[in-house]
Amino acid sequence: MTKAKKEWLEIAWEALDNAYVPYSHFPVGACLVTEQGKTYQGINIENASFGLSNCAERTAIFKAVSEGERDFARLVIAGNTLQPISPCGACRQVMAEFFAPDMPVTLVGEKGITKEMTVEQLLPYSFTGQDL
Ligand code: THU
Repeated sequence: MTKAKKEWLEIAWEALDNAYVPYSHFPVGACLVTEQGKTYQGINIENASFGLSNCAERTAIFKAVSEGERDFARLVIAGNTLQPISPCGACRQVMAEFFAPDMPVTLVGEKGITKEMTVEQLLPYSFTGQDL
């Protein structure tokens, strides 16, 4: 594993500590890496009105996009799951909005087990702006 990739995994793991998960007690952390190498951390942020909860992936993406970022190189997602964590459908759709189909997404589970996927593998035949 490259030094940079190890750092991104650590950033995603560190984010877990800030997860706001009083209801599920299921923390998730994310590290979104821009083409320029800048990183944005994301956590899941829950709400007493459960449906308003936001996933770690979308937090990271919205933070970066709201700072003007548009070009992304990689997303790392970390969770305390036995298998590498699987992002939810809503997050996959948001990934398809902002990421290239071949962009790598690194999924990390407990014990550091990782799985490398692309945006297109996570959401094949996705609905995008080109369909409008
Ligand atoms: N969650 C994420 O933040 N990312 C995922 O990839 C899966 C699920 C959150 C949503 C909720 O706060 C908690 O995990 C349990 O569903």
